Amino acid sequence: MCGIVGAIAQRNVSQILLEGLSRLEYRGYDSAGICTISDGEQHCIKTTGKVKNLKEAVKEKGCPGFIGIAHTRWATHGIPSETNAHPHICENLALVHNGIIENFASLKEDLLKQGYQFKSQTDTEVLVCLIHSHLKNSSSVFEAFKKALKEVKGSFGLALIDKNDPDTLYAARSGSPLIIGLGIGENFIASDTLALLPVTRRFIYLEENELAVLTTEEVNVYDLEGNKLEKQIVESDLDAESISKGKFRHFMQKEIYEQPQSLRNTLLGRLNGDDISLETVVGADENTFRNISSIQIVACGTSYHAGLVGRYWLEELTGIATNVEIASEYRYRKAVVRDNSLFITISQSGETADTLASLRLAKEQNYSKTLSICNVNGSSLVRESDFTLFTKAGAEIGVASTKAFTTQLLSLLILALIIGKQNGSISAEKNHEIIEAIRKLPSLAEEFLSCDKLIATLSEQFSGKRHCLFLGRGVMFPIALEGALKLKEISYIHAEGYAAGELKHGPIALIDKEMPVVVVAPDNSLMDKLISNVEEVRARGAQLYIFKSGNTVIKSDGQTNMLSLPDCPEILQPILFTIPLQLLSYHCAVINGTDVDQPRNLAKSVTVE
Ligand code: G6P
Repeated sequence: MCGIVGAIAQRNVSQILLEGLSRLEYRGYDSAGICTISDGEQHCIKTTGKVKNLKEAVKEKGCPGFIGIAHTRWATHGIPSETNAHPHICENLALVHNGIIENFASLKEDLLKQGYQFKSQTDTEVLVCLIHSHLKNSSSVFEAFKKALKEVKGSFGLALIDKNDPDTLYAARSGSPLIIGLGIGENFIASDTLALLPVTRRFIYLEENELAVLTTEEVNVYDLEGNKLEKQIVESDLDAESISKGKFRHFMQKEIYEQPQSLRNTLLGRLNGDDISLETVVGADENTFRNISSIQIVACGTSYHAGLVGRYWLEELTGIATNVEIASEYRYRKAVVRDNSLFITISQSGETADTLASLRLAKEQNYSKTLSICNVNGSSLVRESDFTLFTKAGAEIGVASTKAFTTQLLSLLILALIIGKQNGSISAEKNHEIIEAIRKLPSLAEEFLSCDKLIATLSEQFSGKRHCLFLGRGVMFPIALEGALKLKEISYIHAEGYAAGELKHGPIALIDKEMPVVVVAPDNSLMDKLISNVEEVRARGAQLYIFKSGNTVIKSDGQTNMLSLPDCPEILQPILFTIPLQLLSYHCAVINGTDVDQPRNLAKSVTVE
């Protein structure tokens, strides 16, 4: 979603800003803009489409200055256009904004009465005018900024510059992430650390309702009352290399192939014989999960699907009733919370607005503990949860989540083992059996990747298809949902995941010889049931694609495509059978010629509601 970069330095900043925007492209956007100040002039350039259009425009027109702000916009108020793109300017002030100002309509009315005029349809232009209106009765831009922020309802990450003071860069955060990057004789702001990795690895995370004032030499952070705050400096362990495609054509392809290593990283230093080290869950001790009576998982998108798989494991291995809900629904429901309940959020980014809002709601409810399963250290979810289990997938750039998902699954399985051990639900034998299986997971993931060529060939048959069904049963049902989500996200083929047993209650009406049906069919206890469902589909002439275990025998015919995958322990099937589905959607997207890493209208991190 929208991205912010800002810089103040003793050198021209436009290249730093543009490079930062390129690194935020993966988040999804539809227009981009930049504003620098030099010789008392604002140099503002905006373009629609990709950042490369902005780079060309900057090359042509020039954008000099030792201070500047830049932005990629994902339209919320008003269509994607140059006028609506950020930065927005009100006389001497220029502002970029992530988030949504909810009371912008009433603020705009007041400002119109004061004589302000608006060129765009955005809430951001209203905010920059509001700050400007406060300048008249304020001793400084900082004072006016503070006053304006107190009037605003909604969420924001902001960067502000003043033509009359090119030595100061302002930033503020409420509900939308913003970090400060510390350089030597130069300082930066961005909505994501990845944007600043070429210039620094030292960061300060702004918290809710904090403002920052940056010069080349100093960074000061304040609360909304103007009290100066002490902030911790965090050294990032990411490097600029982690966001290059290397030998791969797309980030998504690279990230699919990184899974053996990312799964290894999830386990690194955490297994000790049959024990899982307690430090795996940051903040937990041997009693943390002992008396949990129920679990509520909340997440969005792919992370929600991870939660659905997690429920099967948590209930089986801990005996604790577990619910899973989409965050945008949970946050507006009056949930009944039993005593001693654990609230779990799952999120790759740790910044998804609905998931974060659900966590904040949960903290006001009767939950005894909150835990986040997250990939980003320092993210809002991590900072606001009691406990965290880091997935350690490494930076994921492709919008379609792949390695983040499989490491979320592994983390959930580990968590189920930890809780099961603490509450005495899991036997030593079962624990041993699962830990042994987990140890084999990274090398099994490598074996599963070897089906890539076969899947590439298979995916040619999906060319020209408009619809597709994915079927699974039991713990593989959420994997069918995830397979369908991946395909629709990046290849734009309409796809639905269904519990195979539900087929006759509707979707069977769609089946004809044009409809590809992908069946996720590992060898497990529900195999016979699944085969009956396969026969129902086969009898109606569907094009069947059965992703099965090597040792499973399923009747074939001329119409059925069988893909035999390596045998693996049943507990690992959801993780490993995800890999061929990721490859299928990847190859279908390549054949369809879509923008694999940045599919239309999608954002990597959805920081607005
Ligand atoms: C967006 C992304 C998905 C992701 C979802 C939840 O829709 O495109 O890939 O699964 O957000 O994001 P989170 O960061 O909370 O896992």
